[in-house]
Amino acid sequence: MAETYLSGIQPSGLLHLGNYFGAIRQHIALQDQPGEHFYFIADFHALTSLRDPERLREYVREVAVTYLALGLDPERSVLWRQSEVPEVLELAWLLGTVTGMGLLERAHSYKDKIAKGLKPNVGLFTYPVLMAADILAFDSTRVPVGKDQVQHLEMTQDMATSFNHAYGQEVFRRPEPLLAEAEAMQKVPGLDGQKMSKSYGNTIWIFEEGGKLKKTINRIVTDSRPPEEPKDPDGLFLFDLMALFLPEAEVAEWKERVRRGGEGAPGYGRLKGVIREAMEAYFAPARERRRQLLADPAEVDRVLAAGAERARERALRTLERARRACGLR
Ligand code: ADP
Ligand code: TRP
Repeated sequence: MAETYLSGIQPSGLLHLGNYFGAIRQHIALQDQPGEHFYFIADFHALTSLRDPERLREYVREVAVTYLALGLDPERSVLWRQSEVPEVLELAWLLGTVTGMGLLERAHSYKDKIAKGLKPNVGLFTYPVLMAADILAFDSTRVPVGKDQVQHLEMTQDMATSFNHAYGQEVFRRPEPLLAEAEAMQKVPGLDGQKMSKSYGNTIWIFEEGGKLKKTINRIVTDSRPPEEPKDPDGLFLFDLMALFLPEAEVAEWKERVRRGGEGAPGYGRLKGVIREAMEAYFAPARERRRQLLADPAEVDRVLAAGAERARERALRTLERARRACGLR
């Protein structure tokens, strides 16, 4: 049976380099694999942390435009906003009735958010159930996600098994997580060297350019050692950012010059300049497509509406199966 790829991305901020190299790039590359491809903007999920209607609308559009600009092809992939396929909410209810409290209580991402001071709401607690519904509604077999989401995938497998077992039928297919190909892509560093994340305020927006990009890149944390002083380049996360955009051989050359030090060795300012130029060039074609899409909002609306229609039809089929299995029909 052909594979079905599906992933969701929360519209809870502007998308950054971590999102691109850790998630979006894989999503887009997977389009070349035979099978079906589903990508959606998880606006129901975003409501567990974002309470600003204007910004939610803005970020939803931004995610759509970002994916399309970076190469998502609506002919090969279905793109929609989650809330336009409300069937997943009913499915989430059905899954919730076969899910033990203990399973949800063990969720790392829930516990982490609470530890960070987020006031727990029921939506946040049941977040993994809705995520399971998102995945199972489309009979997904491969779910490209970051490491942080693997536990949610395991919970999804548990819920599918519990439901199938409770009703003695194969209502749901078992999905498997698909991790980013390279370890380095799973943890893109932010400006301060911690994992890049909007919750740490250390992000670089994918489409940043010009003077603003220069200012952002200059915030990459370095130290006060002078350029001449020989340094171990492997202790400098700045090179991890450089490696996202420059060929390996070029990165190795810059590293070697830093290691040698002495007269003419590049200082941090110089290295930041190299990163900035390489990043601007890397995203230049996508930046241009983004400009065109922003100038034609009707086109983006059309893509999302067509995607929602296809997604809805598919989710409804699964929902019907689940309703019948448990006696609602
Ligand atoms: P954030 O941490 O900014 O809130 P999300 O949790 O919304 O980002 O992440 C969306 C996707 O991007 C996930 O698949 C996640 O694994 C990936 N991702 C986020 N930050 C990084 C990073 N620094 N490096 C690699 N992947 C990342
Ligand atoms: N929880 C995911 C994240 O924060 C987003 C998401 C929601 C998702 N539903 C999904 C991802 C279904 C994959 C499949 O990144």
